[in-house]
Amino acid sequence: MEQYAIKGGIPLVGEVEIGGAKNAALAILAASIMTDETVLVENVPDVRDTNVLLQAMQSIGAIVERVDRHTVKINGAHINSLTIEDDYIKKIRASYYLLGALLGKYKKAEVSLPGGCNIGSRPIDQHIKGFKMLGAEVKIEYGLIATEAPKLVGSHIYMDVVTVGATINVMMAAAMAEGLTIIENAAKEPHVVDLANFLNSMGANIKGAGTDVIRIKGVEKLHKTEYAIIPDQIEAGTFMMAAAVTKGDITVKNVIPKHLESISAKLQEIGCEIEESDDAVRVVSSKRLTHTQVKTLPYPGFPTDMQPQIAVALALSEGTSIVTESIFENRFKYVDELTRMGADIKVEGNTAIITGVTKYTGASVTAPDLRAGAALVIAGLGAEGYTTVDDIKYIERGYEDFPAKLQGLGAHIEKVETEKDFRKFQLEVV
Ligand code: EPZ
Repeated sequence: MEQYAIKGGIPLVGEVEIGGAKNAALAILAASIMTDETVLVENVPDVRDTNVLLQAMQSIGAIVERVDRHTVKINGAHINSLTIEDDYIKKIRASYYLLGALLGKYKKAEVSLPGGCNIGSRPIDQHIKGFKMLGAEVKIEYGLIATEAPKLVGSHIYMDVVTVGATINVMMAAAMAEGLTIIENAAKEPHVVDLANFLNSMGANIKGAGTDVIRIKGVEKLHKTEYAIIPDQIEAGTFMMAAAVTKGDITVKNVIPKHLESISAKLQEIGCEIEESDDAVRVVSSKRLTHTQVKTLPYPGFPTDMQPQIAVALALSEGTSIVTESIFENRFKYVDELTRMGADIKVEGNTAIITGVTKYTGASVTAPDLRAGAALVIAGLGAEGYTTVDDIKYIERGYEDFPAKLQGLGAHIEKVETEKDFRKFQLEVV
């Protein structure tokens, strides 16, 4: 079984280039088929989730040409099926963005009910409500969500919860509805803004993305565009936490520092030094960090996708920290694994009470999901001795070249497949 082998205890030092945002890419790639003209998308991260989505788009007739590792040309003129039903696509949550994209363009779509990371119950009621308010019928049967509309008509939609996915899905469908749609209580995440900018570059008329009211005037047709995806806020934040945990000095490059503010502020609060420039953030961690409280919130609050990584830093910080997860109920599954490395964490409901310890020791651990998996890698890098992280398929969903980027900062980490590989790694890094 593939796993990461890690020898910890080395401060990570240097610069790391951050790739395109996975969660923006998933929305933008899906939206690319909304025109019959060819769209060029740059800065697409080469990770499992984006590749699975591209495959699904090809399976319904989209032409996908890889210009280079991070650039794709997509043409949606010859879509020959509005049903996306395969076992693979169920594994990625963002498959449901094809619903909004196809419903907008063809007024009909059927997609397997989405899966994704197992981080809690993930209802889709707001997506369904949004589509219905635009005039579509929505049915769930035979494991598919099927939606169809004689025509889509703009509407005033109030989201009951702040949801990235429903905001994105409804925005796509409404971009090609008749008249004005207003989404209230919309998500404000950078990738929501990136999708709106992308759709506008294709001729859509979307205003207010990045605030909680988005106004969309539907257009009949979208056209070709060339567009570069924003940098990945969470990949950047993960490397920032790696600096904190390993007592390192890491500059994350090719980022938008504004998107990282909630992460930078917490790191500063617990004792890291932060230096910002136009497109880079440097994190220096030179002393024992101190405790704090963190509550995950929709953007611009502290991201739920960074909760496991900051918990790994806080579990090594002096004093008692409290981490409250307010977005997904099942995002503390890494705690038992981290406990095996020496952490002292008690979970009560949606709160983790973390009593700082002075060190982690290496252990064999298993990634329970994407971000928790990355957090365990960081813990391994900060631990004394050897750690193996299993189920790295989760990590590979969202981190491109994770071991190579960490190696570039001086980390001893390798992807290994067999016990023999692991022993070889141990001999090499002694
Ligand atoms: C997106 O998931 C991201 N995924 C997640 O990234 C991220 O954790 C999450 O947003 C929050 O930022 C993608 O962009 C592909 P939501 P999404 O709809 O859209 C509730 C990662 O690690 N809700 O904003 O599924 C829901 O239960 C991942 O990259 C409803 O009640 O999240 C949750 O409590 C994993 N009804 C809250 O809203 C709905 O119809 C926020 O969910 C939809 C959501």
